[in-house]
Amino acid sequence: MTPFEYLRKTEKKRMDDLFRFLSFPSVSAKSEHKGDVTACADWLKKHLATIGFKARTYPTGGHPVVYAEYMADKAAPTILYYGHYDVQPPEPLGLWKSPPFKPQIRGGYIYARGACDDKGQTFAQIKGLEAVIKANGTLPINAKLLIEGEEETAAGNLPAFIRKNKKMLKAEVVVVSDTSQFGKDLPAVTFGLRGIASVEVFVYGPNRDVHSGGFGGAIANPVNVLCWMVGQLHDKNGRITIPGFYKCVKPVTRWERAQFRKLPYSEAAYKKLLGVPALQGEKGYSTFERAWCRPTLDVNGITGGYQGEGGKTIIPSMASCKITMRLVPDMEPMDICNRIEKYLKKIAPRSVRVKVDKHGGAKAVVIPTDGPWLEAAGRAVRSGFGKMPVFMKEGGSIPIAVDFKEILGLDTLLIGFGQPDDNIHSPNERFRVRDFERGCKTAAVLPDELAGVKR
Ligand code: BES
Ligand code: ZN
Repeated sequence: MTPFEYLRKTEKKRMDDLFRFLSFPSVSAKSEHKGDVTACADWLKKHLATIGFKARTYPTGGHPVVYAEYMADKAAPTILYYGHYDVQPPEPLGLWKSPPFKPQIRGGYIYARGACDDKGQTFAQIKGLEAVIKANGTLPINAKLLIEGEEETAAGNLPAFIRKNKKMLKAEVVVVSDTSQFGKDLPAVTFGLRGIASVEVFVYGPNRDVHSGGFGGAIANPVNVLCWMVGQLHDKNGRITIPGFYKCVKPVTRWERAQFRKLPYSEAAYKKLLGVPALQGEKGYSTFERAWCRPTLDVNGITGGYQGEGGKTIIPSMASCKITMRLVPDMEPMDICNRIEKYLKKIAPRSVRVKVDKHGGAKAVVIPTDGPWLEAAGRAVRSGFGKMPVFMKEGGSIPIAVDFKEILGLDTLLIGFGQPDDNIHSPNERFRVRDFERGCKTAAVLPDELAGVKR
């Protein structure tokens, strides 16, 4: 029996297992789900053990890490697989067509929170390895699986775990399936991700909410001021105005431009996917360059004042917002946090007090495009999807990949099985059944391809 035959024979059981995995509400951000997160980790550990992995969970300062090994042969290369079993909060629940933790297949898609990001994709890697183990009795590589439970909260406990377990995690390259294909039936291998820096901005006015008729006009309104300040962060060409923000930013390379030009693009389809009347971004750049290669600044949420039923005529005592900035190679998260703090404090009127909480973040991920691993990954994707993948970048962040490089000295292969419209972090998250199946096939071929790389 070949691994592909094994996959064909076990299709039903594989979907049942995935459904079980998806049914745990492993929402890492919410303390009320702590028990569910742990239960999910325990289930995953047991499942890996049934495949033949030596598996256990490790406590961390937050949610447990699932770690599993299949050590086939000392002479074989060791590959570290990374994924996450935690998920984003499913809210707003009213917008889901079926409950987020009761997986359902409709129109060829599996609908559930985590279906794509990242339980479904991680499970494809696991099931691909299972197929090879069951069909051939062994693996051509040593496989180490590190599956964490707090990727979506950026809680930051995993780097310490990696530092503490450097020897256990020793490998030659990392494989991560937590990104996307370019589009339907156009598989991709991703060679770069943006980094991230985040801050929270607080603007304080009067020491309590006061009557807007009694005092309006005489003092600053923190909500008005914060909105004005946010408005100052971009110029009319869509460039960020923070002094020194672009200091380390390198131009998009010709090689990158050439790769992106090969990608099919329709502005109309892009607009339709998102339901926007027009696109907007930094002048002088294409959509892919804007979303993958250029730094950005976005308010993720803004609050202040009265939002309840009816009206309330007040000058609110404070306003605040959360801002994240996506970073490109060489930008330092803390440097960027310091720059935005300095700028916001400089432009703020003297009539308010401004506080900026700087949360730092992660640098961009750069994957060498001339090494042998990327090509091996490309060949595995071709076998799994029956189509040559494109090489692209993406705009999201996988902070831990930077730690893999800095702590373990390892490059990461980003082999995404999802689609850009799989609704990750949104209601009705989904994963195409075909993408899951082709992901499993890719994962079943990948060990052979990686074992064949000349080291
Ligand atoms: N799977 C995503 C990362 C991703 C999204 C890569 C889209 C490529 C395209 C991951 O789970 C994620 O959401 N990461 C966060 C990290 C943040 C919380 C530090 C992100 O990018 O916002
Ligand atoms: Zn993810």
